[in-house]
Amino acid sequence: MSFARILGTGGYLPEKVLTNADLEKMVDTSDEWIRTRTGIEERHIAADGETACDLAEHAARRAIEAANLQTSDIDLIIVATTTPDRVFPSTACLLQKRLDIHGCAAFDVQAVCTGFVYALGIAEKFIKTDSCRNALVVGTETLSRVVDWTDRDTCVLFGDGAGAVVLGVDEKVGIRSTHLHADGQYDDLLTVPVGISQGFDLVKEGKAFVQMRGNEVFRMAVNTLGRICDETLAANNLEKTDIDWLIPHQANIRIISAMARKLGMSMERVVVTVQTHGNTSAASIPLALDCAVRDGRIKRGETLLMEGFGGGFTWGSVLLDY
Ligand code: ACO
Repeated sequence: MSFARILGTGGYLPEKVLTNADLEKMVDTSDEWIRTRTGIEERHIAADGETACDLAEHAARRAIEAANLQTSDIDLIIVATTTPDRVFPSTACLLQKRLDIHGCAAFDVQAVCTGFVYALGIAEKFIKTDSCRNALVVGTETLSRVVDWTDRDTCVLFGDGAGAVVLGVDEKVGIRSTHLHADGQYDDLLTVPVGISQGFDLVKEGKAFVQMRGNEVFRMAVNTLGRICDETLAANNLEKTDIDWLIPHQANIRIISAMARKLGMSMERVVVTVQTHGNTSAASIPLALDCAVRDGRIKRGETLLMEGFGGGFTWGSVLLDY
């Protein structure tokens, strides 16, 4: 039996840092409000002309190097993004070209902040069914491009970045289970309500912006993520104490702390990057993973629970042995 195992991780953040103090000069907000309500202190913002594919390329090259592989070893590319470079080709195809890889399947997944969890779940199925050997799975976002920088309700929350993993085939268990869900009835609570076939004029005018009913999203996120933790543990016949590390989507420190409490985990066992990354949507989980792998906190053989929640609503989890 084949299993999918993480061989290497990579991450990339754009150079420009936007602090809460910078935001105080742009909208009616305060460092104190942002810190206490969200946990965010600063976030990275892509430079003019820097695209989701640019960020993805850096993260992907780092993940391939960490896996001790060459780009030519990659035989599947999945990119999770809500902010693709173009309508088409997919960002995965653009990335494939950058990496000089030819012929393997490459496609994008759009599940907003749960995108990376979705992409990992799909890649795992390819590996387990012997449809590929080394999958490059990337989450990359330039969410700053769809943020209204005059709207204090949303502009303080988001940042740009990319994270990647290479998933390879192994006889030893890596990914134990993935759990993917969605319920489209909540489309109005968290949305950019325009696109190509609807409201395209606003896109052309640069007025395609994130709209969020924050309180309702917050409540749904806490309840739904609590349920998915239970579902994941039950599916694997595990106790809360069997989890070594929680790697949550980084939207709000209060949601992350609520999940740690639910799992009875001390915050030392939770990877938190929201303070310096903000909410990077599909990039947040692989970026957090990469940080904790590179600084030596996460070690081979440890059991990780990743969980995400985002627009759609979409939500999901991955349980794996690193
Ligand atoms: N600075 C100062 N005050 C502000 C700001 C700001 N940046 N933003 C809002 N306020 C004010 C509001 O106007 C309100 O004022 P009022 O009481 O006079 O009306 C007050 O602060 C409280 O606002 P709330 O919205 O109730 O604040 P809340 O504690 O809910 O925090 C937040 C807002 C941070 C957005 C929170 O609701 C949240 O994190 N929601 C979930 C976000 C999330 O999980 N997203 C998931 C995925 S994201 C994706 O998929 C793209």
